[in-house]
Amino acid sequence: MVIISLTNKPFISVRWKIVLVYLAMLLVVLVAIVYVVIRLTGNYLISQRAGEEMAQVDILALRMASMLDVSDMDGIYQLCEDTVQENGGRILVLSSEGTVVADSHSLFNGMEITTAEVYDILNLRMNRSYGFHNLDAQGQNQWYGYYASAIIYNGQRIGLVLYASSVMDLVLQLDSLQMVIQIYFFSVLVIVLFLGFIISDYISRPINKLNNALLQTTHGDFTVRADAKGNDEISELARTFNMMTEKLENLDATRNRFISNASHELKTPLSAIKVLVENILLQPDEEMDPEMVRDFLTDVDKEVDRMTVMVSDLLTLVQMDSGAVTLRLAPAQLSEIVEETVKRLRPLAQSRNITIQARYEENPTVLADRLRLGQVLYNLIDNSIKYARADGHVIVTVDRSESDAIVTVQDDGIGIPEKDLPNLFDRFYRVDKARSRATGGTGLGLSIVREMVHLHHGRITVESQEGIGTCFTIRLPLPKKETAND
Ligand SMILES: Nc1ncnc2c1ncn2[C@@H]1O[C@H](COP(=O)(O)OP(=O)(O)OP(=O)(O)O)[C@@H](O)[C@H]1O
Ligand SMILES: [Mg+2]
Repeated sequence: MVIISLTNKPFISVRWKIVLVYLAMLLVVLVAIVYVVIRLTGNYLISQRAGEEMAQVDILALRMASMLDVSDMDGIYQLCEDTVQENGGRILVLSSEGTVVADSHSLFNGMEITTAEVYDILNLRMNRSYGFHNLDAQGQNQWYGYYASAIIYNGQRIGLVLYASSVMDLVLQLDSLQMVIQIYFFSVLVIVLFLGFIISDYISRPINKLNNALLQTTHGDFTVRADAKGNDEISELARTFNMMTEKLENLDATRNRFISNASHELKTPLSAIKVLVENILLQPDEEMDPEMVRDFLTDVDKEVDRMTVMVSDLLTLVQMDSGAVTLRLAPAQLSEIVEETVKRLRPLAQSRNITIQARYEENPTVLADRLRLGQVLYNLIDNSIKYARADGHVIVTVDRSESDAIVTVQDDGIGIPEKDLPNLFDRFYRVDKARSRATGGTGLGLSIVREMVHLHHGRITVESQEGIGTCFTIRLPLPKKETAND
């Protein structure tokens, strides 16, 4: 799997890091184990051999004690020969001055022996001592064990027995043991290394997959999802990533829908303008009726107005989406804002024979942007007038609860079918497209209203019954001081 590094630093994959750490730990542990095993086994074998040989030499010294006391050299030689014949090796019997009095090979008689073991017995007054020596015959290792035991008779040290025998069998045994351990060591190393690769691959694969998925999103593909199976940190990360791409995908779809809706909505008045203008242009000069031209131009003017309103609504929405709309919040009396808005819309209502009534049950003060909140109320009351019946009534009420200021805009107009209520605040959503377009609506009003109310930290709800009427309710949180006055 190819991993692309997004930085200029040399890229070492997580997988290799895991392998390296794992290998280093493994080497340390294995080397320590091998060292300890070889040392322990070697020590065990050596001490076992020394113990056996020393026991034999002790017995020899015991048996020779009475013979040496009376200088029974024949008896001593016989004992040496019997022992050497049975066990091999060489036996030297030394006097208490360190001189050889008997040699099983009859070569060192009368010579003085100064090995460490002899020194231990004669000078350090130890009862027994042993050691291993490499006699190195022509460049070849020749290891011997020297085992010395004091000859004591009637509490007197009268000499010592020095037994020398080859320990090459032990050395070879240790060598082959070391070899076997080393073979095991390398086999384990290879197996564990192989396991390390598999484990590191297992750990790093989801990271690589996640990285690739991320790279795909940088190319604008938000449909990609990471494998989020499991319950470790990486799958947690994958789940978060999936949540993020899902959001981005939705956002992308919403944006595309918004752009295509906006283009479609703008195309309608543009086409109407084009038809009207072409109609005028195609008229022969002599048939040009100024009255008709005036009618056409009035229609063009209406369409241009419609487009202007729509473009400004779209701009408001885009600004709200990008967080560019900042409210100028200041304490304001809700009844004042309602009064101003009702006043502005009364002529429109009167022109359609609709009565607007404002009721002030309470007069709460809210923290609001007067202009924006005025727009919100304007949109709601404008809708009530637009979708009203002839001789209809619109009632705007101001009230408060313990924590909220409440405004309701109620009408006895055409109402909204229940199935349309959940989508009513969506952008470009219109219940009856033909009727709404005829009244000049684009379906952006309520989405702006909802966003504005949310910017004021408020909520908006709607209740409606087809043929009976509609009631919009806005709840705005009361400032702390207002609630404290209760
Ligand atoms: N008081 C109401 N009575 C009946 N239907 C309503 C009422 N208010 C809104 N509607 C329905 O909800 C739809 C959406 O309203 P909205 O204000 O968002 O758009 P519009 O009025 O069509 O256009 P715009 O307000 O952008 O000029 C309207 O098209 C209409 O069908
Ligand atoms: Mg509207």
